[in-house]
Amino acid sequence: MLRLPGLIDLHVHMREPGAIHKEDWQSGTSAALAGGVTLVLAMPNTQPPVTDAQSLRLALDAARQKALCDYAQYLGATPDNADVVAELAPRAAGLKMYLDHTYGPLRLANMTDWMVHLARWPREIPLAVHAEGRTLAAVILLASFYDHPVHLCHVSRREEILIIRAAKERGLKVTCEVTPHHLFLSEEDIPALGQGRAEVRPALASPADRQALWDNLEVIDCFATDHAPHTLAEKNGPTPPPGFPGLETALPLFLTAVSEERLTLDDVVQRYHVNPQRIFRLPSQPETWVEVDTEATWEIQATTLLTRAAWTPFEGWRVRGRVVRVVVRGTEAFRDGKVLVPPGFGRNVREVSG
Ligand code: NCD
Ligand code: ZN
Ligand code: ZN
Ligand code: ZN
Repeated sequence: MLRLPGLIDLHVHMREPGAIHKEDWQSGTSAALAGGVTLVLAMPNTQPPVTDAQSLRLALDAARQKALCDYAQYLGATPDNADVVAELAPRAAGLKMYLDHTYGPLRLANMTDWMVHLARWPREIPLAVHAEGRTLAAVILLASFYDHPVHLCHVSRREEILIIRAAKERGLKVTCEVTPHHLFLSEEDIPALGQGRAEVRPALASPADRQALWDNLEVIDCFATDHAPHTLAEKNGPTPPPGFPGLETALPLFLTAVSEERLTLDDVVQRYHVNPQRIFRLPSQPETWVEVDTEATWEIQATTLLTRAAWTPFEGWRVRGRVVRVVVRGTEAFRDGKVLVPPGFGRNVREVSG
């Protein structure tokens, strides 16, 4: 039995408020615990999106009532909310700027709007961006004008990881995350997955792009799932939304890579606990750990998952390593496939007292 620190997932979509048929704070944090994740940062592209005090309260009310693991909630940038979100910053996981088209209504089309947020948002509170290809180069440049740290979400392509390497070599304050699906899948998997199911942003890339991520592992600060549940009916329908569930499959995939000597255990702990905590200035969770049976070999099957999405792009994959027990703040929260804490057990790690 292996003991790991509670994993920290910087990038999950809980879908509440607004789309609880896909996921809610209870089902999403159940999936987190099943994956050994004890702290999740929730993205703001909900309905309504989390862009002001009222919508933040709506999301945090749901989380307070339902969450089973600890959490914080991102704010989303719009063309006219820079002052409003800067005011709320200490209560948020961070600010998310969507700079390319993806799922949901949040998108900052104009670079002048990026600049307004870069000027206003506090430097010591995380700023995360969805920026692909040339957009990624553009936001690194503009962030450098303001000497503002920027965290690049779900990096997926060779040119992106090489730009990030070059930016780091020049001392720019950039950090990045990579998802399991961009490390373990490529566009060659699209026919087997089916076009609709394979929809995800950033899109699955070429095998050469995937290999570039592995070749530049030292540039990758964090692993994050971008757990983005949509139902199978939606994925198989006429306008399939982009996104994969990932919370329950990430650690087994990483541990399988460890057993194959493609990663070390320390690579995983650094990127799925240590660096997320440091970069996002998250408090440590006392008496919190995950017990893993590293010898257990099993087959990923959607029917056993706790996410409401009820499907996985890794269906049928044989993996090695199973989460047996999760202890959060001294309480046994998960054991042998079952959640043992009540809804509302999770705490907001950005809660301001008083
Ligand atoms: C995400 C979603 O469904 O909310 N989809 C995705 O394909 N990754 C949005 C996002 O993270 O870009
Ligand atoms: Zn995104
Ligand atoms: Zn996302
Ligand atoms: Zn630690």
